[in-house]
Amino acid sequence: MQRDLGYWDKQMDLLAQQDYIIIDNFFNPEDLNNAHHFFETKQQEGVFQKAAIGASGNEKIINEVRGDYTYWLEKGKHTQINSIFETLDEVKSVFNRLMYLSLADYEFHLAHYPKGSFYKKHLDQFEGRNNRMVSVIIYLNKDWKNGDGGELRIYPEGQDPIDIAPIENRCIMFRSDTLYHEVLTSHTSRKSITGWMLYQPAVLPYLVL
Ligand code: OGA
Ligand code: NI
Repeated sequence: MQRDLGYWDKQMDLLAQQDYIIIDNFFNPEDLNNAHHFFETKQQEGVFQKAAIGASGNEKIINEVRGDYTYWLEKGKHTQINSIFETLDEVKSVFNRLMYLSLADYEFHLAHYPKGSFYKKHLDQFEGRNNRMVSVIIYLNKDWKNGDGGELRIYPEGQDPIDIAPIENRCIMFRSDTLYHEVLTSHTSRKSITGWMLYQPAVLPYLVL
């Protein structure tokens, strides 16, 4: 484990207080390298798919809400990123030990926002899909700079919105049921590993909702 329980204890307190936490330098160098390499490989293979929303199957509506492309990860299938799954397992066990969450599983996908795309304000938990407890996003944008756009805008209750730059190896975790958020228009290609800690096991094949 890269970080000790004392560290996580503080982070979990913060998460309970403010509904979100930001952890920079999240992956160790090996995980980070594997993540970049895997992302590139999957892009070259052309396996990303246009992300859907809710129960709507209407492309036009989808495009007005979100413009990202995703590739769902399956544990055990991608040996190149085994170490990343180990890290995610650790995160899950930390939540279970320190937040008494009894998380059963997680689901993650790679997400690519092409230049000009965004994701309008939303909650990650919605009708028919309420087993997402904690959203976890790790950004993979080398050399991100002001003006590149694609910030994550979060809306903590009773506070002004906060914009979070999607810089490489930054992780944000937030409560999926309460924290409204959006992805501002990205002016460059924007990459992340995005997922959710789940109260119940994920159903395969993933219904992309
Ligand atoms: C999502 C989402 C935010 C981000 O995929 O539901 O809100 O910063 N992503 O990529
Ligand atoms: Ni979201």
